[in-house]
Amino acid sequence: MKTNFLIIGSGAAGLTLAVKLAERFPKKKITVVTKANKSESNTKYAQGGVAAVFNFKEDSYQKHIDDTLRAGDGLCDTEVVEMVIKEGPLRLKELMEWGARFDIDENGELSLGREGGHSNFRVIHHRDTTGNEIERTLLERADELPNINLLAHHFAVDLITEHHFPEIKTEQLSCYGAYVMDQISGSIFAIKADCTTLASGGMGRVYGHTTNPAVATGDGIAMAYRATARIENMEFIQFHPTALFDGKNGSSFLISEAVRGFGAFLRNKKGERFMLKYDDRGELASRDIVSRGIDSEMRESGEDCVFLDCTHLDIEELKLHFPNIYQTCLKKDIDLEKDWIPVVPAAHYLCGGVVVDMDGKTSLTNLFACGECSHTGLHGANRLASNSLLEALVYADRIYNYISKNLPSQTAMSIKKWNDQGTVMLSEFEIIQGKTSDLQQLMRRYAGVVRNNSDLMEASIHLEKLYSETEKLYQKYKLNTALCQLRNMVNVAHLIIQQSLRRDENRGGYYNEDYDKKKDLVGEKKQYRCALEINQ
Ligand code: FAD
Ligand code: SIN
Repeated sequence: MKTNFLIIGSGAAGLTLAVKLAERFPKKKITVVTKANKSESNTKYAQGGVAAVFNFKEDSYQKHIDDTLRAGDGLCDTEVVEMVIKEGPLRLKELMEWGARFDIDENGELSLGREGGHSNFRVIHHRDTTGNEIERTLLERADELPNINLLAHHFAVDLITEHHFPEIKTEQLSCYGAYVMDQISGSIFAIKADCTTLASGGMGRVYGHTTNPAVATGDGIAMAYRATARIENMEFIQFHPTALFDGKNGSSFLISEAVRGFGAFLRNKKGERFMLKYDDRGELASRDIVSRGIDSEMRESGEDCVFLDCTHLDIEELKLHFPNIYQTCLKKDIDLEKDWIPVVPAAHYLCGGVVVDMDGKTSLTNLFACGECSHTGLHGANRLASNSLLEALVYADRIYNYISKNLPSQTAMSIKKWNDQGTVMLSEFEIIQGKTSDLQQLMRRYAGVVRNNSDLMEASIHLEKLYSETEKLYQKYKLNTALCQLRNMVNVAHLIIQQSLRRDENRGGYYNEDYDKKKDLVGEKKQYRCALEINQ
């Protein structure tokens, strides 16, 4: 199959790019492949909202920039931060023109929420289901455009590069499309594209306990890694402090940070409001600090969770702002009016990923990346709440602009068919499930909120074994989604562990008990100070 633009993923990043390209180039073909139903994505579950400056009386771009830099703890790219924050409001206006409905206050202005690390109210939202509203808007828009071919239940297996043409010798690799599996029939075919964009989202499922849905298995990052693209900052996994604790593994329902922004308190089992012990900002300190505070309380008490207390808040207002959270808790017999919500930190967001420049270009020619799978330099060592959807929207637009001015074309080379000769059908799916669960437990135990070098080394040894076992399965059996995802998650876990071992300090969301200090970052730190000084 041939297409002009191949996009892998149908979340906020992939769909925004698809819509923009389809409108600008009505004669060109845009193919979006997505591995579950078309709306399934991290985007769909986003609650809090999108951070952007709209209230210039009390807020400013500079304040949003400073909050982002402070959370990023010295590793943000200041040029990127400034660009994303200034372009963000334009992208949100565009979304509203496409039909997204965000909450409005009594003065008819956008209603602005507040989350941890933000010095101002600036989070645009649709109740507590903002992501669903964005996904709905983008899918409706995409459906209206006849040159978008959205292939649901199609799994991108691997990127096609010169690795697939051993006869070509080159230093600079290019991407020619991807091998894609039709998940219903099991057949694998090549999609040849002038350019390919990874918009494949995050990797929370590498951990046993996560706020992410089942699709978040880091496939794009693993594919890029196997294609030798540059990948950085994988040690910076953001753990959300307040995932609902129900004693089970797997995906956990998120209790939005906006609930703490609304005034909820964190308490330990004794009922003590403990966060002020760890940070003056209390419950609204940045996520790494709150997650470590909770982790420390849990270790001290030996308890499985802490609690979020909303009982002092106006219940009617709470129901109005957070209907989804209120109802989901009620279904689990937790009545926010009188009960505390049991919560634990859970893997939530990957701050690193496939390295891109300000146009979304990766280190491979004709391969772009945007959204959670990419590493733009916006988040540094820790992402500020609600800056992720913002980044996805802005970078989709950057890629669109770049492609519009520099239309890619490919040489007429013929791509080989997928070769699975000699492989057999896998009959025992428990093998894959067992190994996936082993991996998730391993990462949860050895590479969680608080790490240390001996645990990381231990994880590295276990991973090597898991890697060779998985590769054997991959060579022996016909591919299926679960096997491909396991292979990808093992690759991603390897990157997390190796890049964690490389970081010999504590910074942002990365905390290793063996270090008690941050290293002096001569270059970057200077840049960070400059940005703050300009503001004063
Ligand atoms: P996604 O929305 O995850 O989309 C990725 C797409 O790629 C999916 O369609 C997936 O099926 C597809 N895909 C993956 N692998 C393959 C493959 N191999 N082949 C084909 N398709 C593939 N951020 C905020 O800014 N504000 C919030 O309030 C907020 N709340 C959140 C709440 C929750 C519960 C979660 C989980 C995240 C939240 N985030 C929030 C983070 C934010 O939602 C994500 O970072 C963002 O939506 C990522 O968008 P994306 O388009 O990059 O990826
Ligand atoms: C939340 O609503 O707490 C999630 C916000 C985010 O991840 O940015």
